[in-house]
Amino acid sequence: MASQKNQQPISQPQSLPTRPFTFKLKSSVFYLSSILILILAISFSLTKKNFLKTQHLKYTFSLHPTLFQTLFRFLHPVKKPIQTKEPDPISIPPNYVLWMAPFLSGGGYSSEAWSYILALYEQNKNCSFRMAIEHHGDLESLEFWEGLPKYMKNLATELYHTECSMKEIIVVCHSEPGAWNPPLFATLPCPPIAYENFKSVIGRTMFETDRVSLEHVKRCNQMDYVWVPTEFHVSTFTKSGVDPSKVVKIVQPVDVKFFDPVEYEPFNPASIGKLVMGKTTNNSKFVFISIFKWEYRKGWDVLLKSYLEEFMEADGVALYLLTNPYHSDRDFSNKMVDFVKKSGIKKPVTGWPPVYVIDTHIAQSDLPRVYKAADSFVLPSRGEGWGRPLVEAMAMSLPVIATNWSGPTEYMTEENSYPLLVDRMSEVMEGPFRGHLWAEPSVTKLRVLMRHVMNNVDESKAKGRKAREDMITKFAPEIVADIVSKHVQNIVKKMDP
Ligand SMILES: *[C@@H]1O[C@H](CO)[C@@H](O)[C@H](O)[C@H]1NC(C)=O
Ligand SMILES: *[C@@H]1O[C@H](CO)[C@@H](O)[C@H](O)[C@H]1NC(C)=O
Ligand SMILES: *[C@@H]1O[C@H](CO)[C@@H](O)[C@H](O)[C@H]1NC(C)=O
Repeated sequence: MASQKNQQPISQPQSLPTRPFTFKLKSSVFYLSSILILILAISFSLTKKNFLKTQHLKYTFSLHPTLFQTLFRFLHPVKKPIQTKEPDPISIPPNYVLWMAPFLSGGGYSSEAWSYILALYEQNKNCSFRMAIEHHGDLESLEFWEGLPKYMKNLATELYHTECSMKEIIVVCHSEPGAWNPPLFATLPCPPIAYENFKSVIGRTMFETDRVSLEHVKRCNQMDYVWVPTEFHVSTFTKSGVDPSKVVKIVQPVDVKFFDPVEYEPFNPASIGKLVMGKTTNNSKFVFISIFKWEYRKGWDVLLKSYLEEFMEADGVALYLLTNPYHSDRDFSNKMVDFVKKSGIKKPVTGWPPVYVIDTHIAQSDLPRVYKAADSFVLPSRGEGWGRPLVEAMAMSLPVIATNWSGPTEYMTEENSYPLLVDRMSEVMEGPFRGHLWAEPSVTKLRVLMRHVMNNVDESKAKGRKAREDMITKFAPEIVADIVSKHVQNIVKKMDP
């Protein structure tokens, strides 16, 4: 979650001219840069990508001529919307929270930010501050925007158009610290101008390794507060040098109404999955599902090894991997087959158990049906900030098997899931966190747990039910919204006693 896709590194951005600054900061500069970034994104993926993708995009645009216009309108409000009616001076909430995050990008920070604003909006109907949002921190994705349910689009449009007056703003920079002012890549800086122009500036971030890099520590310490989701992060941030008085734990909400198993019919996963290994079966006895971005960190190698060593065709199981590219192409099938060849896993005499990949875009509104199609969710990740698919699966009452390290230790217990033992810590070998440590989940223990979950369906279903219960009592939107509101109120109290 820490790094962003398709960034164009730029040289140190010029500080914005300090002209009179009124929200919305919709100067044509920002509007243009948004569109430019979008166009850049598209053309970048085109140069890299094949003819098919080009055709697909052209097709998408010709099929949905209004799509671009929709996003366009969203990014560039034409008319002054939302005339706040003449405020009654006593009831008007005096403070604004401007939430800046990759709302239009999809991905971890994006869905996390959505979960907060949805929760706060619901609760804020009687609350003490008003909210506005701004897209920041990553590129916009038309596909993602298109897949959002209508109520989310409406909310985004409304909050995007909220007018704030500057001196009453608390800014939340909900993104990777490299996007904070001054940003290390092309994005609207957060906060949009100097830190001291705002009532308070909060950074919301997280990492998946055992520490925070020096540059990020420095950026965190520029903030008035740093919100992190788990005890794990409170510990890694403060040990790395972030001022402990700034670090506040704010857990993540999960939309337990949206992710509610009684509301959905399952997808027929065979209809959207491509077979990678084994033979197609129409009625597997037990279905494992995993959802992740295609990166080494997610431990797909560990999952594949454990599954293929433990099961065979005659077991009647199936494994579905819902994945999408992360700095890689979409040729997941070949990557898996190559991995299996190299790892020397022996083909069982009765044949491989089936492995499917789902690499088509699944709209957010269809996601619950994917979980619903599974009997268990499994993710032997090497490190997670929070692990959204895990809490979504838990809200969907699935028994979850996942690595017992980093973010998920905040909510996984032996009563509500199957925490997977860590063999040892290992060094991150590439990328911006090279040299940090993360966890190596145990292949042997994962095999045991997968077999166990399948053989003890009553127990695993009970854990699934407990999982949903825990999600409702600890992470339901109204509960987390309450936590956020209290912190905002505390900040306000400290500022104007
Ligand atoms: C909003 O209203 C509900 C129900 O009346 C109440 O329980 C809750 O505490 C209120 N929230 C705030 C922040 O005042
Ligand atoms: C699976 O079901 C489809 C239609 O539902 C059918 O066409 C196909 O033959 C079935 N395959 C097997 C292996 O039973
Ligand atoms: C998971 O990790 C936590 C925190 O490190 C530890 O307290 C707990 O005992 C572990 N649970 C299992 C089942 O290993």
